[in-house]
Amino acid sequence: MKAIQNIVILTGAGISAESGVATFRGPDGLWEGHRVEDVATPEAFVRDPDLVQKFYDERRAKLKTVQPNAAHQALAKLDRTWAGELLLVTQNVDDLHDRAGSKRLLHMHGELNSAWCLACDARSPFDGVMAAAPACPHCHQPGCLRPDIVWFGEMPYQMERIEQALSNCDLFVSIGTSGAVYPAAGFVQTARYHGAQTLEINLDPSEGSFHFHESRMGKAGELVPGWVEQLLSHGLC
Ligand code: OAD
Repeated sequence: MKAIQNIVILTGAGISAESGVATFRGPDGLWEGHRVEDVATPEAFVRDPDLVQKFYDERRAKLKTVQPNAAHQALAKLDRTWAGELLLVTQNVDDLHDRAGSKRLLHMHGELNSAWCLACDARSPFDGVMAAAPACPHCHQPGCLRPDIVWFGEMPYQMERIEQALSNCDLFVSIGTSGAVYPAAGFVQTARYHGAQTLEINLDPSEGSFHFHESRMGKAGELVPGWVEQLLSHGLC
């Protein structure tokens, strides 16, 4: 057992599953119904922008019907009360961590509620329908907005800050991610290399499960609140 000061938490689609947001992989996953190459690459957007916009418009509209669950709430409580360093890195493009109240939060794969203007490069909050070709709130040019989502082949956001936090943490926790997509899937190895304890909380073992010191298998909404309470009362992993 080791006293913990600095924490990095990585979350994936599994943490939002109990809120009713579809995960990517698995029988009912988004990538079962859609080919990644059709909706999640820059090439797809050039080829068929309308299809891509509609795919993300649907996901964005769905956000208005879902709520943060007990796992999002527990991580927000940890953020409010943890005196040491903490960075919550989410691969999720939903806003459930934000709505639960997490502040030390970074969306490495972008956000559904953000628009990126290809004409002026500005990013702005957006909760409407992009397929309707609205004007950019900054440069007012119509039809130039794309979802502010990191597609396959694009660089995830704020990697330098993430690498820095990983190299400085005592505890790395991965929640609700299949470990299928890099660079996020490699964070556990970076954290371990720098001496961190590592914990995975997931419904079933991720692809890199063997890299973790400890794995807890089950639903995030059931396991994360207990883990947070354990950490807050004992300061131990
Ligand atoms: P995946 O759909 O690949 O994996 C979700 C993981 O969550 C699986 O391992 C499930 O077993 C687990 N899971 C499901 N329900 C759960 C629950 N209630 N509690 C805990 N775990 C649960 O989603 P990600 O790993 O997030 O990238 O996918 C990574 C990236 O691949 C995404 O950010 C997205 C996708 O392509 C981009 O779009 C750039």
